[in-house]
Amino acid sequence: MRRCGGSSRGVMEEMGKTIFVASGKGGVGKSTLVTGLAVCLASMGSEVLCIDADAGIRSLDLLLGLTDRTSLDLGDVLAGTCGLREAAVRHDRVRTLSLLNAPAGDEDIDPTALAALERYAANEYDFCLVDCAAGAGAALRGAARGASLGIIVAAPEPASIRGAERAAVVAADGGGAELPLRLVLNRVRPELMGRRGIPNADDAIDGVGARLIGIIPEDPRVGALSPAGRIPVLEGVDGAAGAMLRIARRLRGERVPLPKFRKR
Ligand SMILES: Nc1ncnc2c1ncn2[C@@H]1O[C@H](COP(=O)(O)OP(=O)(O)O)[C@@H](O)[C@H]1O
Ligand SMILES: [Mg+2]
Repeated sequence: MRRCGGSSRGVMEEMGKTIFVASGKGGVGKSTLVTGLAVCLASMGSEVLCIDADAGIRSLDLLLGLTDRTSLDLGDVLAGTCGLREAAVRHDRVRTLSLLNAPAGDEDIDPTALAALERYAANEYDFCLVDCAAGAGAALRGAARGASLGIIVAAPEPASIRGAERAAVVAADGGGAELPLRLVLNRVRPELMGRRGIPNADDAIDGVGARLIGIIPEDPRVGALSPAGRIPVLEGVDGAAGAMLRIARRLRGERVPLPKFRKR
């Protein structure tokens, strides 16, 4: 069964102004992807807002090197105690990139307010990227309701694909049949794809029920950069950085071919 939707949106269908990134299972690379896409899109001249919706486990401030800069957060904006522009922090090096941090505490995100904020942000920024918490609950439904595109991240392993499938079902429930959903396969080791117990790209696409928008290889440079609070997309066009750059270009509506994987 396919839930990818959006076929009526024509050749620019990959382009979404407000994009949520979800997975079901944690630790598959959502925050890494949001950070990478945000830096790529901002570097290409777009005005980009990242919203960290992972209350309590926020990490975009760490990945973007903005930890000491954020005081107001998503909770404040959703509660109406401050405005979006007031709470969002502009990156000091990537000037077209801003971050709205998640609340530090383990509080629930109001799904209706989140959807409304996404719609508002779509008018204020070229791209708004929402880093969802792991799991497939009410907050994901809300994120899907207010977004124009959903990216589901999965690693090529059965439990991750099952989690991604669940997230896709909940997102489709929140966003409706017209909401396009796309799959990113992360931490891929091409030499292992399709080996016994390791799903290949086709298995993942069929399992999750969303069209592929990118394959990101396992890349030790990603992990080496993250703890230092540095942006994980830096030099070069190979590896994970290159793959994220190509996804960003697809999101801008460019036709960038996907790599082919041989089915074993
Ligand atoms: N393509 C990749 N290659 C190597 N390590 C990766 C890759 N993507 C993510 N990671 C690592 O995986 C871990 C989890 O990533 P993270 O983005 O925090 O996941 P999530 O937000 O889904 O919980 C981090 O240590 C990150 O550096
Ligand atoms: Mg995360």
